[in-house]
Formats: sequence, C-alpha cells, structure tokens
Amino acid sequence: MAAKIFKDLPGGLKMPAIGLGTAGFREEADVERVLNAALELGYRHIDTAYAYKNEVFIGSVLKKWFSSGKLKREDIFITTKLPLIGIHQDRVELFMKKSLENLQLEYVDLYLIHQPIGLKYFGDEDNRKEIEDVDHIKIWKKMEEQVQLGRTKTIGLSNFNKRQIERIITSARIKPACLQVELHVDFQQRDLVGYCHKNGIVVVAYSPLGAPGVKIFKDRNVPEAINTDVVKNIAKKYNKSPGQIMLKYLLQKNIVPIPKSSSLERLKENISVLDFEINSKDITSLDDLDGGETARLHTFTFIPGIENHPEYPY
Ligand SMILES: NC(=O)c1ccc[n+]([C@@H]2O[C@H](COP(=O)([O-])OP(=O)(O)OC[C@H]3O[C@@H](n4cnc5c(N)ncnc54)[C@H](OP(=O)(O)O)[C@@H]3O)[C@@H](O)[C@H]2O)c1
Repeated sequence: MAAKIFKDLPGGLKMPAIGLGTAGFREEADVERVLNAALELGYRHIDTAYAYKNEVFIGSVLKKWFSSGKLKREDIFITTKLPLIGIHQDRVELFMKKSLENLQLEYVDLYLIHQPIGLKYFGDEDNRKEIEDVDHIKIWKKMEEQVQLGRTKTIGLSNFNKRQIERIITSARIKPACLQVELHVDFQQRDLVGYCHKNGIVVVAYSPLGAPGVKIFKDRNVPEAINTDVVKNIAKKYNKSPGQIMLKYLLQKNIVPIPKSSSLERLKENISVLDFEINSKDITSLDDLDGGETARLHTFTFIPGIENHPEYPY
C-alpha cells in the first residue's frame, strides 16, 4: 500500500508517498465519511489548509482515532497551510495557532505558506480580497520560529516559483522542506521539479489527477489527460485505471501526489498503486502529454488584480 512508502524530510521526518487531498470537503458529514474510510484504507498523510474550512472536522475525526488507540499521533502526517489572509509576518503565529486549535493538535508535520501573495486581513468572516504587499524573507523567519516553538515539525511553500524559492533558500536558517504545486501528466513543470529535487525539496503534486470533472475548470485549455487515449490505453495494458496511471507516473518521478476523492472505490484505487511499475517506453509516452503553461488550471485570478502583482508567480 502506498502509505507504506515514504519521502524523507529533514530531521528524520517521513512523509507517506501518497496523501489525501481534502479541499472542497466543507461538510462535517463528508469529512467524517471520507476521512474514516481513508484511514481504514491506510492513508496516513492528510493535506488540509486553514482556507479549506475543514480543519475542525478533520481534528475531531483524528481525536476519535487517537482516543480509541487505533492511531497514534506519530503514525500520521498532517499538512496545513498559512492562508492568504495570514501571509504577513505579523500574522503567521496567529494563524498557526488557529490551525492547531482547529485540528486539536499540539503540532502539525508540515506548515506551508499557501501562496506567494497575501490578502489584507479584516477578520475571518470578511471576504474582501485586497492584495497586501509581502516580504517573503520576514514571513519565512516567522515560519522558522514556528518550528523552534514546536508547533510544526517542518515548513515549506506552495505555489511559489523558482525565483521566489531561491530567494528564500539564500537567507533561510531552515530551508523549505517541501514545495506543493499543481502537477499532473499534462502539466509537468519539469524545470521547477528538477530544481527542487536538486535542492533536496520534496515536491508534492496537487490536482495530481488533473482535477477531472471539476466544474470551475470546465473551460480548460487542453482535454483532461485522464480521458485521453494515451492514458486509457496504458491503463488497459497494466490492468489499472487511468487515475492509477496518472498517480503512478508522478510517484515514478519522485513526486508525492495528494489526490482527493469522495468515493470509497476511488479512495481505494488511488492508494493501490504499488503493485506495478510503468515501463520506460510508456513513461516516455506520458512525458509527451505535457501541455506546458496552457495546461495550468490554477491561476488564482479570482483575486482581483493578482496577475499584476510583482510576486504573482506565473
Ligand atoms: N496548495 C494549493 O494551492 C492547492 C490547490 C488545489 C488543491 N490542493 C490540494 O490537492 C488536493 C487534490 O487536488 P484536487 O482536488 O484539485 O484535484 P485531483 O485530486 O486531481 O482531482 C479530484 C477530482 O478527481 C476525481 N477523482 C478522484 N479519484 C479519481 C480516480 N481514481 N479516477 C477518476 N476521477 C477521480 C474526484 O471525484 P470524486 O470525489 O467523485 O472521486 C475529484 O472530482 C486538494 O484536495 C487539496 O488538498 C492544493
């Protein structure tokens, strides 16, 4: 089972090589159903974020698993993220503490800066989206403090580009352990992945299945890779599903996928990808599906003016 293979992070920390994505699970009942099923299936790496508004529900499911003795805290790897409204040196600690309180945990395993650009904070219930200037170096220092204070085992970045990561590495006392970015067969970001691997940064792929069927991406520029003949034919050859081929491709590239599913069957499918290997010829056919920038789904343009900001990463 994929939960049994790990990526090594600094300090002896081990990240299970497949995680469970939880964006979009907003209802308590959904979180309970999916997380209980995932934990039973062997998922031991959960990806959440303050912004997903489900940390509280995840925390209460975990508490039950801990108090029943079915799971120990150290058996599970939890990632959460500093929200856009927290991306300021004066608010890192505030939002780190809020996440820990929501999750009912003393520490998380990985705390990520969700985005290179922050929003002004007018309170949790205020949905105004006004961009605020960011100082990545000052924010990173506050992230490092959270490690020192024992609130997170390690820290990393999400949606940062190579230039932004390089700048942080130059002044960091604790280097980013992880970069979480959009990656799928048709959007491979090879240069960025190569840079991270060269610098010992674990790469986590979000939307690893290319977010098939997700309504907000219905106008995508390239067809869903999971439904292409190339992926389907390779899946048939290995007697696997197209989704399993998409995930195994990433694993063979030394990338950690965090697929999200609300279906028990697909949760099982997504973690059952260790009993086969895609051969190099088929890997090359999948390499050829890379659509480059045109295949990027997440551009965060729901934030007015974001594309004109100097730290807009794309
Ligand atoms: N850092 C960031 O900025 C960021 C941004 C986006 C996402 N993320 C993280 O990454 C996680 C995953 O990304 P995502 O949810 O955008 O996309 P995804 O995991 O690529 O795709 C999820 C979609 O695929 C379907 N699906 C799941 N397994 C499948 C399979 N085996 N075959 C066919 N379809 C399948 C799901 O439907 P069913 O539910 O019906 O199975 C769901 O609609 C998120 O949940 C979140 O934790 C992070």
